[in-house]
Amino acid sequence: MKVIGVKDYVEMCQKAKEIVVSTVRSKQKVNLGLATGSTPMGLYKDMVEDFKNNGTSYHNVTTFNLDEYVGLDGGSKQSYRYYMNTYLFDYIDIPKEHIFIPNGKAKNLEEECKRFDELIQKSGNIDLQILGIGRNGHIGFNEPGSRFDSRTHVVKLSESTRQANSRYFPSIADVPTHAITMGIQTILESRKIILLASGDSKANVISRLLTEEPSSKLPASALKHHPDVLIIADEKALQYVASK
Ligand code: GLP
Repeated sequence: MKVIGVKDYVEMCQKAKEIVVSTVRSKQKVNLGLATGSTPMGLYKDMVEDFKNNGTSYHNVTTFNLDEYVGLDGGSKQSYRYYMNTYLFDYIDIPKEHIFIPNGKAKNLEEECKRFDELIQKSGNIDLQILGIGRNGHIGFNEPGSRFDSRTHVVKLSESTRQANSRYFPSIADVPTHAITMGIQTILESRKIILLASGDSKANVISRLLTEEPSSKLPASALKHHPDVLIIADEKALQYVASK
């Protein structure tokens, strides 16, 4: 894992945008893996701005999102599909049929997980995967205890994750109890991975990630098994890390 330390959230987003844009411009066809949460919002804003100003085209880009809540459809404001439309897809030239997000309303969730995972593999896997990190070390919704060889699956959300994400819902009772998430193995099959971390609330988990041995107690530590992972973290997220 390589770490780039940046000043703040704005700089973190700029750096990530530069890498996304140069990846999109470097190949005929690119598969992007996308994350949600508050962390990548600024990255998506910068991508939209770059699309407007520099015309970077997403016509040949296919996207796969990491996760989706079980029980929410794209019309629900808290769904990750709604989030992606609102922050990115509605403003760039990506063809709608190139957008893949797990369907949290699927009748057969197991089938949906299998379908989604196979789709990624059939498409030739992800070229560049964007990740945020949960305060407990989750990536996607792979909670502590998740197997490193897991593929796309249904997870029960931990109470701490439901609590952390309740800020987007009217009340904690409205936060779904389950989600579909790309598995850790699925994520590790991406050619390049960028993990973004910003702010005090990520300081503890980033220090753990950089110092602990890989173990399922800290799902993000699986990234140590990957040859091309870049962590872009700001000063606040790196405050407990000795040499920045
Ligand atoms: C959420 C998402 C993750 C995200 C993480 C951090 O629950 N499932 O993909 O990376 O938690 O969220 P935030 O960026 O809001 O801190």
